[in-house]
Amino acid sequence: MVESLRLAGTRRVIIVPMDDSTLAPLLTPEGWALLGSLPPYDDLDPLSAGEALREQGHSPALVAAALTQQRLRGRAETKFGPFASQMLFTPDGLEQATRLEVSAHHASRYTRAGLSRVADLGCGIGGDSMALAGLGLSVLAVEHDETTAALATVNLMAFPEAEVRCADAMDIDLSAEGVDGVFADPARRSQGRRLTDPEQWSPPLSRVLALREQVAALGVKVAPGLAHDLLPADCHAQWVSVEGQVVEAGLWFGPLAHEGPGRSALALRRGADGSSRAHVLADPDCTDPSAPPAQVEPVGGAEELGELVHEPDGAAIRAGLVAHLARALEAAPVGDRIAYLSGDRPPEPSLAPFVRSWRLREVLPLHLKALRARVRETGLGSLEIHKRGVDLPPEALRASLHLRGEGSETWLLTRLGPRDGSAAGARGAVLVVEPLVQATG
Ligand SMILES: C[S@@+](CC[C@H](N)C(=O)[O-])C[C@H]1O[C@@H](n2cnc3c(N)ncnc32)[C@H](O)[C@@H]1O
Repeated sequence: MVESLRLAGTRRVIIVPMDDSTLAPLLTPEGWALLGSLPPYDDLDPLSAGEALREQGHSPALVAAALTQQRLRGRAETKFGPFASQMLFTPDGLEQATRLEVSAHHASRYTRAGLSRVADLGCGIGGDSMALAGLGLSVLAVEHDETTAALATVNLMAFPEAEVRCADAMDIDLSAEGVDGVFADPARRSQGRRLTDPEQWSPPLSRVLALREQVAALGVKVAPGLAHDLLPADCHAQWVSVEGQVVEAGLWFGPLAHEGPGRSALALRRGADGSSRAHVLADPDCTDPSAPPAQVEPVGGAEELGELVHEPDGAAIRAGLVAHLARALEAAPVGDRIAYLSGDRPPEPSLAPFVRSWRLREVLPLHLKALRARVRETGLGSLEIHKRGVDLPPEALRASLHLRGEGSETWLLTRLGPRDGSAAGARGAVLVVEPLVQATG
């Protein structure tokens, strides 16, 4: 059963499936007021708060819905900051939503291209629509799930230029709607499972990409693991990381791809003042996003390692920019197709956001006996372990090392040299490193 409700103090009518027990009680004047009166979830003892609210006469269903929503709002702060306290979520909607600092970058492509009305196809709880509307664009936010569309309507309440429509995104007549830009973020999960085949996404990637026959300005959020050879040659593909964690890739077409076709990495990092800073890395020689990434020769073996080891940001790795970074850093991979780069030069400020750099202290063989001896001799009690190209779980190694001392070290488990079977080649090694303090500009 579906019912429409008018929220107190707003002009918007929310269409909400009334059998949704987690949402319907909140979209009443009583429910909305109760939710607004709750302190942040971290300051609540849910058991005693629930009891007190029921004693005040609120129904158990409303109390449960309000406490659940307050918990989701708390979790949502990492994506939406202070806005989260005015929004509504489902666990799935929150999980899939684009965090605001990333959606702001999406939206800025539409304003930069001079567009005015954008269709957000598969808008979810409205993360991207909020950013588009926040930059003054008129937004048609389309979502086929009734509950999720209701949440998007609430979340976009502050933006009169945003309209939420509960419909199949593929049924929208873009030209009749006066749309001059499209953003799509296909659902990549089904029943809790991640779907790796883009044709199983909803809508399927090929159908979304076909929309550029109707609207040149198309942007699509995709899984960061999407293979390069599946990328259309006319897009600019940009991988995004937030504080070093890869979160997505965006495919940008027509006027939204101001860089032209190719691949790049966008690293978002907090500066010393807490504000998010954007850093872009691109290889000007890569003008076809579907081309295989350039490769670079590794060092010959341990004896050729430089003073520093740089680990590229995941967005740069996914964008196929390791060879470009290696050239720019005058460095080489420590092993064949290993994304640890060895060199002597610290990264310049423009490259620093794209690498984590360490000073190399020692090289040990990747043999349990030698590593146990190291632990005993140096009195190690804690180990930070990273690895690339080695199939050894750090936890298993740590457990077999009997760490009982006071000392601590950072180890990089990896393979050294080429894979060609030469005497020095492709050997397992442990690089003992310590952090190189670097400015992110
Ligand atoms: C990944 S989520 C979008 C998240 C959104 N960008 C945000 O930041 O909140 C994808 C959404 O598309 C919706 N969806 C999937 N197929 C659709 C279709 N054919 N028409 C409309 N919505 C669809 C799903 O229900 C889901 O809510």
